[in-house]
Amino acid sequence: MKEKLQQIKQAALAELQAPDCDTEAVRVKYLGKKGELTAVLRGMGALSPEERPVVGQMANDVRAEIEAALATVVAAAKEKALNDRLAREKLDVTMPGKCERVGHQHPLTRAQREMEEIFIGMGFEIAEGPEVEYDYYNFQALNIPENHPARDTQDTFYITDKILLRSQTSPVQVRVMEKQSPPIRVISPGRVYRSDALDATHSPLFHQMEGLVVDKGITMSDLKGTLETFARKMFGDKTEIRFRPHHFPFTEPSAEVDVSCFVCGGKGCRVCKGEGWIEILGAGMVHPFVLSNCGIDPEVYSGFAFGMGLERVTMTRYGIDDIRLFYENDERFLKQF
Ligand code: DAH
Repeated sequence: MKEKLQQIKQAALAELQAPDCDTEAVRVKYLGKKGELTAVLRGMGALSPEERPVVGQMANDVRAEIEAALATVVAAAKEKALNDRLAREKLDVTMPGKCERVGHQHPLTRAQREMEEIFIGMGFEIAEGPEVEYDYYNFQALNIPENHPARDTQDTFYITDKILLRSQTSPVQVRVMEKQSPPIRVISPGRVYRSDALDATHSPLFHQMEGLVVDKGITMSDLKGTLETFARKMFGDKTEIRFRPHHFPFTEPSAEVDVSCFVCGGKGCRVCKGEGWIEILGAGMVHPFVLSNCGIDPEVYSGFAFGMGLERVTMTRYGIDDIRLFYENDERFLKQF
């Protein structure tokens, strides 16, 4: 029996030495309930009373030795696994980090926000209107009846005979005046549509910002002062404005308004095409017909209105020479703002 115990010990230790030893299988095979060592212990009843404690002690020693060897092999395997993993997941903390790119506002959005801030500073509120609009608001209420030649320059996308994509932000004037009684001081930025072919200065979709002030005793000088203040804040303190007579059906008198070129100061350069002036908007005193169309008595109230192209203002401001750049989403362009 003693030899048997020695054999078990040697066999177990030898198996544990093998490189890919399955430690759990070894434990079950030798120390488990049906294991070889247990079988020996079961047979101890056949021994003499003198031999029993000796063999018992020996069996315990063998068990302890196998257990110790098992523990060593298991610990070594665990350590090796950990080291392998550490080597695999090695992190080089001296590597430069990956830079997260942060986006920013589109130049048109930036210019729009800047313009809004300037007008809000003068007491204006922002009003919104639908881009899909009734012919009534886009044309008729603005004193542009059916078949009026002024419609030609704003030929737009019709959805039905009476519904279209708005060709200007002016219909918001009508919507505001219908709902609100004077004093009114609003601006209305937004998209407008015209069936123009895309080129360096035209786009079938572009943006305008409308302005409207209605109150008692509003005159052309209020319009001039408001636009001059806006132009100086937007283009610089030295900016001058110039009114040229024009015709819009919804204002009387009407004007087109230029700002002195902010690059050359009026001498003439590439940006202003040698003119010294850059046209940025249309404006005028709200036509009495438009006021009464909206339920406002033109005998009591007067008002001024203006409408400017956001693209035009932004192109002027940043010296951009092609409107298409705004819509192409080319990062080489957008990154510059
Ligand atoms: N809606 C005009 C256009 O798109 C611009 C304009 C001119 C707006 C005069 C106005 C205005 O409010 O008073 O050409």
